[in-house]
Amino acid sequence: MLNVEKIQLKYGNIPVIHDVTFRVEKGEIVALVGGNGNGKSSILRGVAGLLTPSLGTVSFEGRDITKTQAFDIVSLGISLVPEGRRLFPSLSVYKNLRLGAYLTDDGKEIEKRMDYVYSIFPTLKERKDQRASTLSGGEQQMVAIGRGLMSQPKLLLLDEPSWGIAPKLVDKIFEVIREIRNNGVTILLVEQDVQEALEACDRAYVIQTGRVVMEGTGRDVLNSELIQKAFLGL
Ligand SMILES: Nc1ncnc2c1ncn2[C@@H]1O[C@H](COP(=O)(O)OP(=O)(O)O)[C@@H](O)[C@H]1O
Ligand SMILES: [Mg+2]
Repeated sequence: MLNVEKIQLKYGNIPVIHDVTFRVEKGEIVALVGGNGNGKSSILRGVAGLLTPSLGTVSFEGRDITKTQAFDIVSLGISLVPEGRRLFPSLSVYKNLRLGAYLTDDGKEIEKRMDYVYSIFPTLKERKDQRASTLSGGEQQMVAIGRGLMSQPKLLLLDEPSWGIAPKLVDKIFEVIREIRNNGVTILLVEQDVQEALEACDRAYVIQTGRVVMEGTGRDVLNSELIQKAFLGL
């Protein structure tokens, strides 16, 4: 579904991603894991069209999207849930969700998608008229994911879904991510919570200083010496 081949990404003229190659098959949950500052968010921005690769290619469903702009990438079926959620704090839950459906003005279609989001996150239905700023971290993350789903993506990009969430809710968020996948949405996520991500995903790539240093099934990567020593301190 998604093929990223030998991409380089730069900020100004400073390269931060070097020769990164990975793929996501339809129906998978793929995780990119690694510590802070290693380039995970930059890679998602590269896929979402917010950063244009200076070398290499990105293709989606066989189409070259390397130079496609972010707006058009959303309409092809890729949606990014950004790091730190980026909600509109003074707007209601409903309005934040509604913003994710900006490509359609078909009211019935929007309500159908909203009902789907409420079915996954019943709490959001109860809180639909509350300002986003009054929600807990976990609930805000639900709004961010829900907003991402409102464009009805085929591929959902999740940047640190566990960020700022109470530890006991992190399991719950990953459970929901698996449910969303089981409903037919392919998932590419990046995480510093290496253990949670590796337990939840099908396949994973370890990113260090802007390069892929290991790939495999979630289980194999979790059991690898690299991960056990470098991230889990075992
Ligand atoms: N907007 C930016 N301008 C310049 N450098 C950036 C910018 N965003 C990230 N970087 C740099 O790119 C590198 C990778 O960052 P990032 O992709 O955010 O990593 P991660 O998501 O793994 O924490 C870091 O060295 C970071 O300082
Ligand atoms: Mg990041």
